Amino acid sequence: MTRVGYFQFDPQFGKVDKNLETVLGALNKVDVDIMVLPELAFSGYYFTNRDELESLAENPKSSQTIDALVGLCKERDFYIVTGFAEKSEERVFNSALLLGPKGIVTTYRKTHLFNTEKKVFDKGDTGFVVSTVRGVSIGMMICFDWVFPEAARTLALKGADIICHPSNLVLAYCQRAMLTRCIENLIFAVTANRYGTEKRPQGTLSFSGQSQVVAPRGKLFHRSAKDEEECFVCEIDIAQARDKKITPNNHLFFDRRSEFYELS
Ligand code: ACM
Repeated sequence: MTRVGYFQFDPQFGKVDKNLETVLGALNKVDVDIMVLPELAFSGYYFTNRDELESLAENPKSSQTIDALVGLCKERDFYIVTGFAEKSEERVFNSALLLGPKGIVTTYRKTHLFNTEKKVFDKGDTGFVVSTVRGVSIGMMICFDWVFPEAARTLALKGADIICHPSNLVLAYCQRAMLTRCIENLIFAVTANRYGTEKRPQGTLSFSGQSQVVAPRGKLFHRSAKDEEECFVCEIDIAQARDKKITPNNHLFFDRRSEFYELS
């Protein structure tokens, strides 16, 4: 069995150190294999302009935030998937990092930027990546990627058992849609959303909480409240994501008729 979980909280815009302290405090005692944090968990989300984003984004290879999280992974012997404002030379990505006791395992850069993110972030260039840790194949996608079923499908076809899904959701559909993504791909998904409100000069955004863990046939293990902090962990059996048979005569992947699918 694998222990997976998420930490739903209310990151404070621009308060990287305070957000790190909140996360370190919450994860300090959890007994887990893979823990998922929200999108942009340390910087906050609603940037006024590119300069502001650049002032809060960090290169993960020289980031005290990432060093502290890796230190925690080492101490507690677990893995973390976190959203992160990632600086890479002149570019800035809305990224998800898989971190473990030895450092950064994988970086995923958000493929489908949402609304005003397009004004400040560069488009992700990594594509969808699957990494195996502790015998579990982990795929990452970020928030609005859920709208494109191709994202979860690509990860499932690449062998993901579980999708770790850092989010800052503002629309009301994702939590329900992720049940479907898990049914149609027979995978697990951990959506780690934030709650709370960001009041910025350009407007106000409210985030919908309701982080959740879903199993391959759409079973909802747990869904958090809309506006409460919660650190949730549960045990999952990864073998359930490897059984792609739907009936004795139907296999999710072998029955695909890709010659009839419009791919571009
Ligand atoms: C979103 O992609 N943060 C809505």
